[in-house]
Amino acid sequence: MISTGTHSLQNGFNASEEFKKKALISDPGIYETAEDRLAFWAERAATLSWFKTWDTVLEWNPPFAKWFDGGKINAAYNCLDRHLEGSRADKKAIIFEGENGDTRELTYQELYDEVCKFANVLRTLGVKKGDVVTIYMPMIPEAVVAMLACARIGAPHSVVFGGFSPDALRDRINDAHSKIVITADGSYRRGKILPLKENVDEALQNVTTVEKVIIVNRTGLDINVCSERDFWYHDVMKDVSPVCPAEETDAEDILFILYTSGTTGKPKGVVHTTGGYLTGVATTHEYIFDIKDDDVYWCTADIGWITGHSYLVYGPLTNGTTVFMFEGTPDYPEKDRYWELVSKYGVTILYTAPTAIRTFMKWGQHYPEKHNLSSLRLLGSVGEPINPEAWMWYYNHIGGERCPIVDTWWQTETGMIMITPLPGITEMKPGSCTVPFPGIKAEILNRSGQPVAHDEVGYVAITEPWPAMLRTIYGDDKRYKDTYWGNWPGRYFAGDGAKVDGDGYFWIIGRVDDVINVSGHRIGTAEVESALVEHSAVAEAACIGKNHDVKGQAIAAFVTLREGYVASDILVQELKNHVAAKIGAIARPDEIHLTPELPKTRSGKIIRRILRDIAEGRPIGDTTTLADESAVIALQSIKNS
Ligand code: WT7
Repeated sequence: MISTGTHSLQNGFNASEEFKKKALISDPGIYETAEDRLAFWAERAATLSWFKTWDTVLEWNPPFAKWFDGGKINAAYNCLDRHLEGSRADKKAIIFEGENGDTRELTYQELYDEVCKFANVLRTLGVKKGDVVTIYMPMIPEAVVAMLACARIGAPHSVVFGGFSPDALRDRINDAHSKIVITADGSYRRGKILPLKENVDEALQNVTTVEKVIIVNRTGLDINVCSERDFWYHDVMKDVSPVCPAEETDAEDILFILYTSGTTGKPKGVVHTTGGYLTGVATTHEYIFDIKDDDVYWCTADIGWITGHSYLVYGPLTNGTTVFMFEGTPDYPEKDRYWELVSKYGVTILYTAPTAIRTFMKWGQHYPEKHNLSSLRLLGSVGEPINPEAWMWYYNHIGGERCPIVDTWWQTETGMIMITPLPGITEMKPGSCTVPFPGIKAEILNRSGQPVAHDEVGYVAITEPWPAMLRTIYGDDKRYKDTYWGNWPGRYFAGDGAKVDGDGYFWIIGRVDDVINVSGHRIGTAEVESALVEHSAVAEAACIGKNHDVKGQAIAAFVTLREGYVASDILVQELKNHVAAKIGAIARPDEIHLTPELPKTRSGKIIRRILRDIAEGRPIGDTTTLADESAVIALQSIKNS
């Protein structure tokens, strides 16, 4: 059972004296210093390399912010060029291991050369500043090269997670009006190959904007190559000059768009810009992960998610960190793969998700015990609330009771970590993401915008703008305003329920909107529902998140059938497969219940609360708003069956 949001029984945990002594941030005075927010962030921004300094630190016309406006900067330049003077040129930027055990290392110099060459390729293929490039790739160094090459020429990238279906990919390409897609022939997945290029071909069937596709040969899979449209990466990279001056982009130019699920069926293109984003991710990465020059830092997130963008690519590379990148999964070929990698590469910092930790717990401690994990000195957690049991297991069995754990709360929209310990100074409480980062203002408010009392549940609000904040939803300022700033004008509504304890520590409970957090990934109920109703057998569908001891939440769907269709296990299987094919495997419902009727109010609104009660096997609460009791009677038979 997960007991998120409850207070831990333990006393707080502190980093060891040894850790504290060496910690980058060891003076709690930083919180006070950062009270002068703009001065703090300006001082942090000044540690980056700018072509031209900004005119204003912040222009805030709620809800539209401009950070470091007037400044000229390039994200790739900050990740690469500035490390080339001196000894960092030969420092490893990326250490890569593929699923099959193949390895590659790129120094900062080598990564720079590769990025410059690929940036030249993109320019030759007609990509201009401001053109959105869609990236649909496995976790291989070329994915990072592609992102940085886009950044170098001022072309925003839109990375689409390689697990998404052709339909999901198509929607994102269309929304962004991409003219070019970068992909690979395939991607290794537990000994099989996911056909990425085939998915691209399918997605492009109803796309008119895409003119070029670049394909990395990762697996040798036999694929279809269109002579006019498709180019092999290894062909176009031949004889290309490694000299490519970085575009002097405006601080407020778009660095990337990243799609995330919302409460409607249409994913939101979250827009991040350059100067503020880079300031936010570099600072948080350095301070929270206590980055030292000899660290081997491993963030297990895929580049298709914000964690991959901020803490696998832009944060660490801006800081000149050695990043370990892994293509595979924790259980292939064996369930100790992560621990084998930690000891093989001497990983010092590991940043992963509670769902992974709970999976490791289930597999048992004998897997990590087989390996020497003594190189680890700091652990991180992200994506969902970490239950105290998982926290303790991580602390004991992975961290050897030696490593502080940073439980980092943030979102695709926030771009950077917002609520987190600073490992050298913040006392940790298992299950709490602790306190807002210096220079960040967060509170728990009620619906009308009043702060709630200690230990009372309310909603997470960010009450002052922050440098890495999203600037808008791509092409939809209204949705941006309504979704995040409609509740409390001038204050950001995060969509999470939470409370603050007497020590000012934040305890996140989870999403309060119609978004399900499956293994740390956001899936909109509306997206799953619209996939279901596209199936010919389905009349109506309603989805909810159900507690799950590994995934955090799992998707449970309630479906009514059209006339002429008969409920069967085969149909249930078919519907699950249909959702996976429409969106991607992460959206496959764990349970689908076929029912004659859904519980609705008299105005026809589905009462999800009742569905949650049914799914969790709880007694059904208040039913007075129900239009028709018979729906519940039918559902109750599901519960008992
Ligand atoms: C949602 C954001 C941020 C990177 C990964 C997910 C939940 C995230 C925590 C945490 C409790 C967390 C929230 C948030 N969440 N980190 N440390 N403790 N909950 O990004 O897909 O944008 O999802 O993930 O519910 O709103 P995302």
